[in-house]
Amino acid sequence: MGSSGWKSQCDNSQMLVEKQVALQPYNTFGIAARAQELVRIQGQQDVLAVLADPNLRDKPKFVLGGGSNIVLTGDVKPLVLKVEMKGRRLLGQTDRAWLVEADAGENWHDLVAWTLEQGWPGLENMALIPGTVGASVVQNVGAYGVELQDRFDSLDAMDLQTGQVFTLDAAQCAFAYRDSVFKHAPAVGPDGTKGMGLAGRALILRVRFALPRRWRAVLGYADLERRMAMDGLVASQITPERIFSWICEIRRAKLPDPAIIGNAGSFFKNPTVSAEQCADIIARDPKVVHYPMPDGSIKLAAGWLIDACGWKGKTVGRAGVYEKQALVLVNRGGPSDPVTGGEVMTLARAIQTSVYERFGLRLEPEPVVL
Ligand code: EPU
Repeated sequence: MGSSGWKSQCDNSQMLVEKQVALQPYNTFGIAARAQELVRIQGQQDVLAVLADPNLRDKPKFVLGGGSNIVLTGDVKPLVLKVEMKGRRLLGQTDRAWLVEADAGENWHDLVAWTLEQGWPGLENMALIPGTVGASVVQNVGAYGVELQDRFDSLDAMDLQTGQVFTLDAAQCAFAYRDSVFKHAPAVGPDGTKGMGLAGRALILRVRFALPRRWRAVLGYADLERRMAMDGLVASQITPERIFSWICEIRRAKLPDPAIIGNAGSFFKNPTVSAEQCADIIARDPKVVHYPMPDGSIKLAAGWLIDACGWKGKTVGRAGVYEKQALVLVNRGGPSDPVTGGEVMTLARAIQTSVYERFGLRLEPEPVVL
């Protein structure tokens, strides 16, 4: 990769600090940017070696997983800790659940496929989501009626100041729609005390999932219902494997494969509005796709809103709006001439302006913009 590296002088972990590392292969948008310094984390000892190194210990840090939810707008100045820990195991079982643990650097889809092969279903609706296990927690990934938090048990993480390992349960992770405590910078109070955000402050080491032993199919999502009807099946004939293959098929049909067309999945979150706001929008746009939420609010399909503003299939510079799903922004440049983060953000802002002018709604980006 053409980067130079040096071994840390003051530890014995064989830690290698790589300099000027090309990040293009490490972000699914395929944006060309460099990490000034990058350390591969293959075990806890690598983090401890970073913290023991006087040149690195106090530097701001950025934890990189599969790079499937980031937009790089320039070279990355914080020290990049690239999570590469691998391993997965069954820890035990109760009469209610299998407890499965995976190291943070495991590929998410491989974990989903492996748990199914072992006979521990429950993750199948989240098949084919790009990225690593650790990053899936940060983002509280979700698809087709199931979110990571629905199957989450707990995780171990390392404090990036003290090197201490700590455990968090779901409540402590503060999961919300595509959000967790790991996505937020630590808030600094007037007295210098740090608040709850753990971005850059903790590195997820391993994650435990509770996969229910009494499996029930999660259907009810329009795309899945359609697929079920096409195969002429009723709910009692549905197996986890069948859902897994339907989900893979549905996703492949409408989402671009990042290995072929660079992208970061949905670029915006689906916005939530009050029932009154939604009624106003329906009065003007009766076809707006909307879903009532348990708390009485209404979630709107951002993809529909963007599509209605005429953006689907449009290209600005080397940034494009995917022709089959307007919520996905894509890299229209070639491998040697890729989109820049600036171009992606210019397009994103133009879309936000259109949606605001027409619907009075501010779309919030889903990826972390660096
Ligand atoms: N729609 C349009 N035009 C478009 C795109 C969508 O009219 O260009 C309409 C669709 O016809 C549908 C509705 O909008 O009626 C919703 O679209 P879709 O079912 O594709 O789901 P989504 O709300 O756009 C969300 C997640 C996806 C997840 C799917 C399935 C977010 C931000 N996105 O997309 O997650 O795979 O539901 O559960 O919540 C991701 O987060 O990266 C991601 C891909």
